Amino acid sequence: MDPSRRVQFRIWRGDKNGGAFQNYEMNVSEGMVVLDCVHRIQAEQAPDLACRWNCKAGKCGSCSAEINGKPCLMCMTRMDTLPPDQVVTVEPMRSFPSIRDLVTDVSWNFRVKKKIKPFKPRKPDNADGSWTMFQEDIDRVQEFRKCIECFLCQDVCHVVRDHHKEEEFIGPRFLMYTAALEMHPLDTEDRLADLKDRDGIGYCNITKCCTKVCPEHIGITDNAIIPMKERVVDQFYDPLTRLFRMFKGK
Ligand code: SF4
Ligand code: SF4
Ligand code: FES
Repeated sequence: MDPSRRVQFRIWRGDKNGGAFQNYEMNVSEGMVVLDCVHRIQAEQAPDLACRWNCKAGKCGSCSAEINGKPCLMCMTRMDTLPPDQVVTVEPMRSFPSIRDLVTDVSWNFRVKKKIKPFKPRKPDNADGSWTMFQEDIDRVQEFRKCIECFLCQDVCHVVRDHHKEEEFIGPRFLMYTAALEMHPLDTEDRLADLKDRDGIGYCNITKCCTKVCPEHIGITDNAIIPMKERVVDQFYDPLTRLFRMFKGK
C-alpha cells in the first residue's frame, strides 16, 4: 500500500435516539488496522467519538464493529485488506442497542449466559479425589474455549438480527457454550430440554454465517450446534435412545 494514501471513512455517530454517518479523511500508512484509524480520527478530528477497545491484539473481544457491512474486530482488520478505492464504512454491531457511536449494549449476552445450567461434575473417579479422562474427550471441547466473547456471531445471526428472537433464542455463542458443557467428559447436567424448549436451537437453520465471522475460527455450526441438534433429536424423537438415556442418567 502507498504509505501516503488518503482514505475516506464513513463512521456512524449517534446514540439510542438515532444518528447518521459522518465523513472523515486521513492518511493511512502501511500496517495500520481500522482501530488505528478510528483512534487517529478520535485524536485529530473527533475527540468525542466513542469506541470500545482494550487489547488491540484480537483477544479481548471489545472492538467488535461492522466494517463495510461485515462484522469484524477493528483491531484485526488491516487497512490493506479493504478495497483501496472505496470509502471505508465503520458502524456499530447492528443487533445490539446503541449506547453511543461505535459502542453497543451487549448485556443481553451476559443475561443469556446466566440462564444456562452450570458445570456439574460427576463424583471423583479415584480415591485421591481426581478424575480420569480421555484426551480425545478433552480435545473435542478445547476449541470452544478459544471464544473471546466478541459477540460477532450473535450480531450476524439472522434469528437475532432480523427476527429479534432474543427472548426465545440464545444465539450461536451460547449454543456453543452449552455444547462445551454438554460434551465435557465430567459433566452430568442435562441441558437438552432447555436447548429445545427455552433456548431455541430449532431456530438455527445452519446457515453458518456465525462460523464465517468468528475471529477465532471456531467451528461453531459443525462442531457445536449440529451435534447439539442431533442430541436433541435423539433425546426427544428417537424412542430407543430415549429409553437408553433414561437408564444411563444422561
Ligand atoms: S448457523 Fe444458526 S446460529 Fe449460526 S448464524 Fe446461522 S442460524 Fe444463526
Ligand atoms: S464464538 Fe467466535 S464470534 Fe462468537 S463470540 Fe466467540 S469468538 Fe466471537
Ligand atoms: S481491542 Fe481487543 S479484540 Fe480488538
